[in-house]
Amino acid sequence: MITTVKPLGSTLMERIGNTPLIRLEGLLAHLGEAGQEIQILGKAEWANPGGSVKDRAASAIVSDALKRGVIGNGKGLLDATSGNTGIAYAMLGAALGFPVTLCMPSNVSPERKKYLAAYGAEIVWTSPADGSDGAIRKARAMSAAEPDRYYYADQYSNEENWRAHYRTTAEEIWRQTEGQVTHFVAGLGTSGTFMGTTRRLKELNPAVQCLSMQPDSAFNGLEGLKHMATAIVPKIYDPSLADGNIDMDTEVAYKTARMLGRRHGLLVGISAAAAVAAAVEVAEREAGAGREAVIVTILPDAAEKYMSDRFWQEQD
Ligand SMILES: Cc1ncc(COP(=O)(O)O)c(C=O)c1O
Repeated sequence: MITTVKPLGSTLMERIGNTPLIRLEGLLAHLGEAGQEIQILGKAEWANPGGSVKDRAASAIVSDALKRGVIGNGKGLLDATSGNTGIAYAMLGAALGFPVTLCMPSNVSPERKKYLAAYGAEIVWTSPADGSDGAIRKARAMSAAEPDRYYYADQYSNEENWRAHYRTTAEEIWRQTEGQVTHFVAGLGTSGTFMGTTRRLKELNPAVQCLSMQPDSAFNGLEGLKHMATAIVPKIYDPSLADGNIDMDTEVAYKTARMLGRRHGLLVGISAAAAVAAAVEVAEREAGAGREAVIVTILPDAAEKYMSDRFWQEQD
């Protein structure tokens, strides 16, 4: 055995996090000189081995479950997920050797279905009409019926979800901006990214303004994000932590995704485009008040899983 070469499982775990922080230039030209005092920086979360920000939460949840012995020896992990967390669990299950069962609405993108099948996860499809909440109800029912077969990881209630971001995402942002971050903007799905990163950034500097972003209506195309007023509210979500919230229109996110691809050579997922649009809104506010700002946002994934969506073809 060559001792300097590591096994796949631990290599994957080590590669999660420490993603690049990218300066998004040329987004604020319309603000003239005031825009020059403002930077928008995006965490390139597609650099994680599973291709999304959800590798962070999934690896923390899996590490905790392995440590407590609630998965392994044939006992599998079960959760409800609209895609990225499922891909992360499926990758880790295949690499570390535990079965993964996922409940999800059958209308998730064909690309996501292909990733999950390729990683060998078992999928339980739920009705698209019931959205991600239908998948949550199904997972709850399955774990209640067979508690010895499944560990229900419940990313919406699992404290390891936000703790992953408290321990890693926030520390990385602080280090990568040399402590100069003034604003943090992130979309809300389970809310783990926003909660964990905000908690730690506020400890490091209570003056950092933390703004959540969510879809502006129950019916929206912002995959991965939740309209909290009409959804089952995640247990880990505490709205009082946010300094403000930005409601995002799906068409604005689509348009931003096209603009980032066509004018910046950056193909990001829809929630990442929504995050950039929200960061631009914050920049406009700060420029209007004549303030300097270092605005950091999270780009949860790249465009590859959304390429079959039609909005890419529209002209602006
Ligand atoms: C593409 C995408 N964006 C954003 C999020 C939201 O992240 P969080 O669950 O940490 O709120 C998710 C979560 O699944 C996602 O898949």
